[in-house]
Amino acid sequence: MRVGIIGTGALGQALAVRFVAAGETVLLSDSRNPRSPRDLADTIGPGLVPATVAEAAGEEIVVLAVPWRQLSEAVAAAGTCDWQERIVIDTTNPLGPLDLHVADLHVTESQDHQSSEVVAGLVPGARLVKAFNTLAPAILAAEPRTPAGRRVIFLSGNHPGANDRVARLVEHVGWAAVDLGRLAAGGRLQQFPGGQLATLSLLLQP
Ligand SMILES: NC(=O)c1ccc[n+]([C@@H]2O[C@H](COP(=O)([O-])OP(=O)(O)OC[C@H]3O[C@@H](n4cnc5c(N)ncnc54)[C@H](OP(=O)(O)O)[C@@H]3O)[C@@H](O)[C@H]2O)c1
Repeated sequence: MRVGIIGTGALGQALAVRFVAAGETVLLSDSRNPRSPRDLADTIGPGLVPATVAEAAGEEIVVLAVPWRQLSEAVAAAGTCDWQERIVIDTTNPLGPLDLHVADLHVTESQDHQSSEVVAGLVPGARLVKAFNTLAPAILAAEPRTPAGRRVIFLSGNHPGANDRVARLVEHVGWAAVDLGRLAAGGRLQQFPGGQLATLSLLLQP
């Protein structure tokens, strides 16, 4: 299958490495359209296709791997993308400039937003799945199957079919998928910083 990734930083590259190693085709993009993904194609392998943001956003599964403060701009670069046709994997964490503070999620007494609910608002109609936001890129880029077990990837989202689709991709790569349910509950557990599962790196024993 083909996966579009927007963002060629530490997180986007780590996922591209594992998806390509599992035999997937990855359309990798950043704001330089597509100069730096072309450089990465040599190191990551022939399954990596340098792409524009709009091309990456054209795939059935689109991974958002850009900093929180650049999300709107990156989504806008996807142009007239029909998000209703897409599963969007949200890897982002709501961190402000230099990752030094938590971005304002406009929490009020009556509204308590989970960060992926805010991201969902940027991609109207997309089936959004929160995943890959709790582990360091070096851990994600490493072989998911270790002698002690498979690395656990948490995911959550409001569309069970999309959660299942992403779980199948995760399992195909070799990780162990753990579906935490809807964003309001599971997404909150995964949210970084603050979520109870946010810094856990777990292995599922064989
Ligand atoms: N690093 C971690 O430990 C970690 C762990 C879990 C989750 N995350 C989350 O993953 C996301 C990415 O983090 P990162 O560490 O990979 O960041 P990073 O290394 O700073 O890379 C950010 C990437 O986003 C791209 N980008 C920025 N603005 C863009 C735009 N308008 N259009 C297209 N691409 C754009 C950049 O491309 P250009 O250089 O072309 O601008 C760059 O490739 C963040 O939301 C972060 O919270 C990070």
